[in-house]
Amino acid sequence: MNAPPNITEHLVLFMPSGKRGRFAKGTTILDAARQLGVYVESVCGGRATCGRCQIEVQEGHFAKHKISSSRDSISAVGPKEARYAEKRALPAGRRLSCSATIEGDLVVDVPQDAIVNAQVVRKDADARVIERYPAVQLCYVEVDEPDMHKPLGDLDRLKAALHREWGFARLEADTHLIGDVQSILRQGEWAVTAAIHHDEEGDAARIIALWPGLKNEAYGIACDIGSTTIAMHLVSLLSGRVVASAGASNPQIRFGEDLMSRVSYVMMNPDGRQAMTKAVRQEVSKLVDKVVAEGNIQRADILDAVFVGNPIMHHLFLGIDPSELGGAPFALAVSGAVNARAGELRLALNPGARTYVLPCIAGHVGADAAAVTLSEGPHRQDEMMLIVDVGTNAEIVLGDRRRVVAASSPTGPAFEGAEISSGQRAAPGAIERVRIDRETLEPRFRVIGCDLWSDEPGFAEAVEATGVSGICGSGIIEVIAEMYLSGIISEDGVIDGALALKSPRIVADGRTFSYVLSEATPRITVTQNDVRAIQLAKAALYAGTKLLMEKQGVETVDTIRFAGAFGSFIDPSYAMVLGLIPDCDLEKVSAVGNAAGTGARMALLNRNHRREIEETVHRIEKIETALEPKFQEHFVYAMALPNKVDPFPRLAAQVKLPPRKVLDGEGGGTERPRRRSREERMARRRR
Ligand code: FES
Repeated sequence: MNAPPNITEHLVLFMPSGKRGRFAKGTTILDAARQLGVYVESVCGGRATCGRCQIEVQEGHFAKHKISSSRDSISAVGPKEARYAEKRALPAGRRLSCSATIEGDLVVDVPQDAIVNAQVVRKDADARVIERYPAVQLCYVEVDEPDMHKPLGDLDRLKAALHREWGFARLEADTHLIGDVQSILRQGEWAVTAAIHHDEEGDAARIIALWPGLKNEAYGIACDIGSTTIAMHLVSLLSGRVVASAGASNPQIRFGEDLMSRVSYVMMNPDGRQAMTKAVRQEVSKLVDKVVAEGNIQRADILDAVFVGNPIMHHLFLGIDPSELGGAPFALAVSGAVNARAGELRLALNPGARTYVLPCIAGHVGADAAAVTLSEGPHRQDEMMLIVDVGTNAEIVLGDRRRVVAASSPTGPAFEGAEISSGQRAAPGAIERVRIDRETLEPRFRVIGCDLWSDEPGFAEAVEATGVSGICGSGIIEVIAEMYLSGIISEDGVIDGALALKSPRIVADGRTFSYVLSEATPRITVTQNDVRAIQLAKAALYAGTKLLMEKQGVETVDTIRFAGAFGSFIDPSYAMVLGLIPDCDLEKVSAVGNAAGTGARMALLNRNHRREIEETVHRIEKIETALEPKFQEHFVYAMALPNKVDPFPRLAAQVKLPPRKVLDGEGGGTERPRRRSREERMARRRR
């Protein structure tokens, strides 16, 4: 039988971590948190001057936890805390955990946004609150003054103080600091703030920066290096808030639009790798300038940086030749996480700043996909989650807490508007939404930069400046899906030429037909080749997904997350009508925006997340689609809309799908059987 609890001890539950324990009356809440391993920020070491250790007491009876908590169970505001509140305005309900003591049972909320300086807070970053446990910590200490009788060096007394007050037993100091230690200590009159980098448990912590007096703010950057764009967030390491964000085009585009052309450039030009590494690092540096200006801080205030990117961007940023990634077996130079000093990557931040690059999953599935996985967390849940990051190469991850598998599929650039006759990048003037009347086959559309539909009064005036210039990725998905839903194209993607008799929008185009979306100048049409390009891209994506589903032994998925810019703009129902993604409850399909950026922020703010993704990537099973014999078969079936063989019952329950219509490849003769293609015949034989 368990001994009854000591009645002088009180039960304290910390939220959101859920960690709980019994503590003697009079213990400070900060000490209780530390004993339980709950991360509560503290810079001043309990002197009630930094204000970083704020907590809130939850009041009420928490039946699930069998705790009744009230503000009476915490000590009254003492003089130190009152002095802080007077000087820095402690928000209502907040207490300093270094001063407040436990006087009864408590439920304590550790807010993840204890903000002490007026900061600009970005609204456009994912508003997710990330529990903090950063690799870099600010520690204020008061160091013993030198004593002739105890000839211990200034740095050694600093280390002793950090051991005494903060518990760092094994502590090293960056060599760049040694020359400055004496002047900084004297400037601060023996009170200094040290930035300690401590990432891996078991490794020695390091002093990486030092300031005189109390330094109460430090920043990190989270950066997603995409082949097309680079996005950066400046984040407070102490409050977790995103204080500035910036983005820019990847300047490597001048060496090649897509990834493989950039690899070819490296292979064919002796200085190609250096030129591209320099280009991307310079752009990253320019973005640092932008976020530093917007956040109104100094570069030297940035102490940590996390980078993610696809394998080729990852290699080029790190200065690694990506040639091996240009062909099988797609060997990565390094797949594990990379830790480096910012200076080693030619990044001018604080001289002691560290960088962390997330691990790559495989030669085609990079640190960006790892970051998306960290953000969405298929490995943290019971439901089977499909994550799709659509770019020139789609990265696909499927799994749950038992098992996660990943692959990439060569979708090509069609989803980004390339290879489409009227295609263009998403920019003002590009058609992004399309509806087609089921009876008259007349279209209406919306363009980026204008909220009006094309059939609404005022549309022509509203788009006068930009014009209607082409169709972007989300527009092409919608127009082809709408063409299918209106019966303009068959399930095999053939534009029905017989409809030319019914609608002037269907026009002959050589041996095939096109659909005229806009008569204005430039004339915007969807050609048979456009439909084919999208079919090929979506079939590659679906076939890759299907392979992963087979590996998992599942016929359906529970949730689907679209990552990346493309995913943010496409309508999930149209993506499913086209068969880009498998059948799923539409309510369970969502866009998660820049999930790679969110994953990078998680790794920046919490070193446990670094371990989590390192461990997860290690056990993700990688599927090489090119080597899988069934890929071709799935691909052929996936050419049909939504699919030749796979049923889409959940889609059909929500969207009225057209009756099956089969046409020959040139759009002639409706409703007659179509000759199977060579690939389909071969696939059938293999079955
Ligand atoms: Fe600094 Fe409490 S730890 S105010």
